[in-house]
Amino acid sequence: MSEDVEQKYRDAAARPSNLGEMKDADAVGTAGSPGCGDMLRIWLKFREEKEKGKVIDKASFQSFGCETAIAVASVATEMLAGKTMAEAQALHGEDLSAPLGPLPPMKVHCASLVEEALKQALTGPADSHAVDTAGSPEVQGLQKNMQDAQTGGRKIVFD
Ligand code: FES
Repeated sequence: MSEDVEQKYRDAAARPSNLGEMKDADAVGTAGSPGCGDMLRIWLKFREEKEKGKVIDKASFQSFGCETAIAVASVATEMLAGKTMAEAQALHGEDLSAPLGPLPPMKVHCASLVEEALKQALTGPADSHAVDTAGSPEVQGLQKNMQDAQTGGRKIVFD
């Protein structure tokens, strides 16, 4: 990763956009990486538009993970506003991280974590408040870690 790209990731992680739980969300998706133990959650709020139909009005995230995932989630939640469900579904990790620059192979999974959480939110029961669609035992274990961390002080939250 070039120094310029590295700096972009550092800056995005230091001042992330759209960080924090969205209380009035229509959907939420959670993804965890058992390999590194990181976890990420994305909230989506939808709105109806005359020509496009249902679009993402706004997105926010919370992370229990590395700086790279925080940086990607920050730019991803910015780019999601105004996207239709199909447009958002078509986004992959490399699309979500594109504004910051290409990731080295060892960090590609950080962007995949954001993609997975987004897909979980998009494919979960729509228009239901705070629906958690994570189901695998690994992700459930990570979710427990995230909940436990709320009192243990390990959770990364920038409100
Ligand atoms: Fe695991 Fe970044 S090191 S998400």
